[in-house]
Amino acid sequence: MSDAAADLVDEKVETRSQRLKRATRDLHEALDQRMMQGDLFSDRTRYALFLAMQWRFHAEIAALYGAPDLIAIAPDLPSRRKLEEIENDISDVGAAVPAADLRPVDAGDRASGLGWLYVAEGSSLGAAFLLKEAEKLGLGAEFGARHLAAHPEGRGLHWRRFTQALDAAELTEDEEARAEASAVAAFRRVREIAEETLRG
Ligand code: HEM
Repeated sequence: MSDAAADLVDEKVETRSQRLKRATRDLHEALDQRMMQGDLFSDRTRYALFLAMQWRFHAEIAALYGAPDLIAIAPDLPSRRKLEEIENDISDVGAAVPAADLRPVDAGDRASGLGWLYVAEGSSLGAAFLLKEAEKLGLGAEFGARHLAAHPEGRGLHWRRFTQALDAAELTEDEEARAEASAVAAFRRVREIAEETLRG
């Protein structure tokens, strides 16, 4: 098979969620490293910075979870919103919601919305590790780390339900490109928030 033909086959077998993963792998890895370097799980005061980061990101994307065009693609979207749990976690550890300026994401563009949601929902899959770290601080699904808890149906299944909906959405070529650019933008935005938060 020629290289071009092999590429075509590869393109066919790779799902949208797999493509988004590939497009953001390096950004995810760099972000993980930066966060671990930031020592966000060494005590509750540092952990409150992690919560502040999470709150800013989730506040900026909160409107996506109520957007009709996105709910048409993933009907369980409203129940996936984490903002209230993060706010409860913040008050559990005696901290306050950060006063930073928010840059809300445009909820009117479903293709971009899917890219941002891929990043937010994927972070709940990876949160098993973060929950373990939070547990070392005496926090957990009932107190202080509510937003890191696994969904009752299980993290893996809950994630697959989302990726199935994401992968099944019919997008134009232009929308496809916007979804990918938005997943990249989402990781860049989280990185930016992390830098600002860690700088203090
Ligand atoms: C120290 C911080 C982090 C660590 C150690 C971490 C770790 C992980 C791990 C281990 C997975 C794979 C889980 C699995 O396949 O079962 C994962 C997935 C993922 N994480 Fe993170 N993560 C971190 C922070 C974040 C943040 C802040 C975001 C974005 C807001 C994020 C977005 C994602 C996404 C989108 C996926 C899904 C990748 C895919 O399979 O398509 N992660 N993470």
